Amino acid sequence: MGRKKISIIGAGFVGATAAHWAAEKELGDVVLVDIIEGIPQGKSLDLFEASPIEGFDAKVIGTNAYEETKDSDVVIITSGIPRKPGMSREDLLEINKKIIESVVTQVVERSPKAILIMVTNPLDTMTYLAFKRSGLPKQRVIGMAGILDAARFKAFIAMELNVSVEDIQALLLGGHGDEMVPLPRYTTVSGIPLAQLLPKETVDRLVERTRKGGGEIINLLKAGSAFYAPSAAVVQIAEAILKDKKRILPCCVYLDGEYGLKDICFGVPVKLGIGGVESIIELQLTDEEKRLVSKSAESVKKSIMELKL
Ligand SMILES: NC(=O)c1ccc[n+]([C@@H]2O[C@H](COP(=O)([O-])OP(=O)(O)OC[C@H]3O[C@@H](n4cnc5c(N)ncnc54)[C@H](O)[C@@H]3O)[C@@H](O)[C@H]2O)c1
Repeated sequence: MGRKKISIIGAGFVGATAAHWAAEKELGDVVLVDIIEGIPQGKSLDLFEASPIEGFDAKVIGTNAYEETKDSDVVIITSGIPRKPGMSREDLLEINKKIIESVVTQVVERSPKAILIMVTNPLDTMTYLAFKRSGLPKQRVIGMAGILDAARFKAFIAMELNVSVEDIQALLLGGHGDEMVPLPRYTTVSGIPLAQLLPKETVDRLVERTRKGGGEIINLLKAGSAFYAPSAAVVQIAEAILKDKKRILPCCVYLDGEYGLKDICFGVPVKLGIGGVESIIELQLTDEEKRLVSKSAESVKKSIMELKL
């Protein structure tokens, strides 16, 4: 059995950092693709030159074409423009739609058996677009958002309580926008329900900070958006798939009746293994949680309509 192949389209901040995490974890050989000449070649050579120091075995190839991506097991798509201060994820739709349509076609032509992991924003809409354009089964098109958003929630809880991030479990539903639905009721610290550790006002404040977590980083950076946590999250999905780990993680997937939603890509907990999305887990929700989920679904639906597919 040879090494797995992971292709990453878009060698910008998220793509190149994902290449770093994936190579260091020895998930497989990495192919980095970008339209800018020299960028994927330079970043991949630099990363490969780190391997004798860090001691990982993974080939890292950079290219402006798609030939090297042939027969990839996993393809991570990060190509597109990121948000600037004051922009919403939706503002990216028109430009990124064109990029994703062309990238997905080229990827699937050469790797018809691959699992696609989408990163480009607006995430839920671009995942839907990739699903429709790729012709792949719904189990093999996955959007990354919930892991990142839940990680932000966990990070804020750990800071508030001054406890290890390792002990925090958190779940989240919905689209990757300010209307995402963090679920304090499904959040624990070493099994202890969050409500026993923090007053409601504090939890509400952390939920609100989580919803605006992406914007917080953009405002600090001024140019570009978050990339360390997003790339780590995307590689967690790739690892769960390539190692057939059967992990349960919140991901953006195509729904066909689950949660009462149809023909939408939306964030829900799923089981990830070698087949991609192996099952979708339906949580029991309170009326208030249901209301928030349907509000988030409405804004994702509106954005999907703008694709005019
Ligand atoms: N889903 C999430 O949670 C999440 C988190 C962070 C960023 N993002 C999104 O990911 C995307 C990438 O962010 P980034 O910070 O890496 O941006 P970036 O500008 O650093 O990188 C994007 C790269 O894509 C390349 N590119 C553009 N068109 C291309 C094409 N047709 N083929 C191949 N490459 C192409 C660009 O040359 C650039 O190098 C953005 O849309 C951003 O909003 C999503």
